[in-house]
Amino acid sequence: MHILITGGAGFIGSHVVRHFLKNHPAYTITNLDKLTYAGNLANLHDIDQQPNYRFVKGDITDGDFLMRLFAENRFDGVIHLAAESHVDRSIANPTEFVVTNVLGTVNLLNAARASWHPDYSGKRFYHISTDEVYGSLGREGLFTEETPYDPHSPYSASKASSDHFVRAWHDTFGMPVVISNCSNNYGSFQFPEKLIPLFINNIVNRKPLPVYGKGENIRDWLWVVDHAEAIDVIFHRGRNGETYNIGGHNEWSNIDLIRLLCRIMDTKLARPSGASEKLVAYVTDRAGHDLRYAIDSSKLQRELGWVPSISFEKGLELTVDWYLSHAEWLDDVTSGGYQRYYEEMYGNR
Ligand code: NAD
Ligand code: TYD
Repeated sequence: MHILITGGAGFIGSHVVRHFLKNHPAYTITNLDKLTYAGNLANLHDIDQQPNYRFVKGDITDGDFLMRLFAENRFDGVIHLAAESHVDRSIANPTEFVVTNVLGTVNLLNAARASWHPDYSGKRFYHISTDEVYGSLGREGLFTEETPYDPHSPYSASKASSDHFVRAWHDTFGMPVVISNCSNNYGSFQFPEKLIPLFINNIVNRKPLPVYGKGENIRDWLWVVDHAEAIDVIFHRGRNGETYNIGGHNEWSNIDLIRLLCRIMDTKLARPSGASEKLVAYVTDRAGHDLRYAIDSSKLQRELGWVPSISFEKGLELTVDWYLSHAEWLDDVTSGGYQRYYEEMYGNR
């Protein structure tokens, strides 16, 4: 099998690439990534010399480039993760999210169709999406695969739109597709703009921890390694045209999560108890801030037998340990040094 993974230099993508190389050594993996601020080849340092792995720098918004890439390669499957992924950035610059997440996905569908049509046997287009497409829950209930779409942020609206296009290619053109909608991920290699790595980095540097609103919003957190395992299971055994929700049954209000993180950080940094929590600073709420996300992943459990492997407390501690022992990685991605390096390396290609 030759699989194209898009966004493989990002947070989740790098875990998916690593997982597939380890668990499916007979496969060839091509990682297509534009290397935006969120894409970092250092995330793949441990595996990038493997003979069945190849990196291609490219942009999914460039339809001609994708057509050429698919003409030159006989991909059996696509696992599509490339996206703009941060809600706050989508509020600052919505158009970029439409172009990358919607147009980029349609370009990829077009290229896969042109390459595979009319014989789709053995092919699969797997689109990685988010629980945020379902909107916001009240205090009760869970998102199921039947929950109507109700996105509120430009990010979730662009992901919802891309999901619709993927289903349209299945219904209209017979493309074998599968979609999964996952809850908030955490773990190693996450860019420190998202809650957990941002707060770890700020605590290390004794900087304020900006809690939006009252910190009452609730998220359902899943260890990224468990997400990669779920993606493997769904890619191989998920039914065509189906959607699978992936979640950790692990709901935390932001403030409770932050307090737990602060306690872990105090211990790991040998600081007095309560030192990290003193950095909490309540700030103006995010516009359109969804109150609660919570996933019902029973379909995935029932049909494909997937369950998360570790508790949140354990996963969070592993994550903190990873960031504290990879200070150089954090410095690089926050300094912009690696961005300049890529400019020099790839700027003219
Ligand atoms: P990320 O921002 O860490 O990585 C995105 C990757 O996509 C980067 O490597 C970036 O360089 C690449 N990319 C961006 N624009 C591109 C373009 N035009 N062409 C090619 N590559 C491009 O994101 P992530 O958190 O790893 O999320 C990956 C996917 O999973 C996204 O589709 C996201 O919507 C989805 N998802 C994320 C979460 C989460 O908690 N992070 C949860 C559910 C679903
Ligand atoms: P985030 O990691 O951006 O993921 P998402 O918005 O996709 O859920 O944010 C997680 C939660 O943390 C969300 O409710 C917003 C909140 N948050 C803060 O309170 N302060 C911050 O600085 C950030 C980045 C997020």
